[in-house]
Amino acid sequence: MSAYIDYVKENYGPETVLLEIGAGHRSTKAFAEHFNKMYSVEHNPRFCDLYHDNYLQIPLDVDGWYNSEKFDAAIPDDYDLVILDGPVGGFDPPFVKMADKVFRMGFTRHNIKRVDIIVDDTCRQWYEKDVVKFLEGNGYECEDTEYYTICKPKEGK
Ligand SMILES: C[S@@+](CC[C@H](N)C(=O)[O-])C[C@H]1O[C@@H](n2cnc3c(N)ncnc32)[C@H](O)[C@@H]1O
Repeated sequence: MSAYIDYVKENYGPETVLLEIGAGHRSTKAFAEHFNKMYSVEHNPRFCDLYHDNYLQIPLDVDGWYNSEKFDAAIPDDYDLVILDGPVGGFDPPFVKMADKVFRMGFTRHNIKRVDIIVDDTCRQWYEKDVVKFLEGNGYECEDTEYYTICKPKEGK
């Protein structure tokens, strides 16, 4: 639902390099207009190469998450904000296992790069909440809003 768009635009200037996980026509379009540089991880070609020049098209594995090797190889080094809004919602059991997969794949290469992470849809009872729990256990302070959670690295960690 991309409820975080206004918050992100108000709190992160155009010089911030955004790594968006899950592309579409809403936040991707809005952020392509706001940020000088952004990346979008996306599995579906239908949503790739539409609003900016840095789409990272990565297929999903059977468990519903991006293919780990391709994800790891594709993630850039120069991002300073992550928005987690993909891949897709709607299927249940695999998501509960995914909490730390997000970071044990691409992000492990960066040893959990310590940037702000916005997790969308944390109002749902799906894996999104587990991702937040994982971050809280890994040196992040997480603040819930109605629809999304703002996760920031604790100072000095
Ligand atoms: C919540 S959407 C991501 C939306 C994106 N952050 C935005 O607001 O532009 C999660 C996934 O659903 C798919 N998707 C994106 N836009 C869609 C749409 N309008 N209808 C159905 N699926 C969509 C994409 O594969 C995307 O990775």
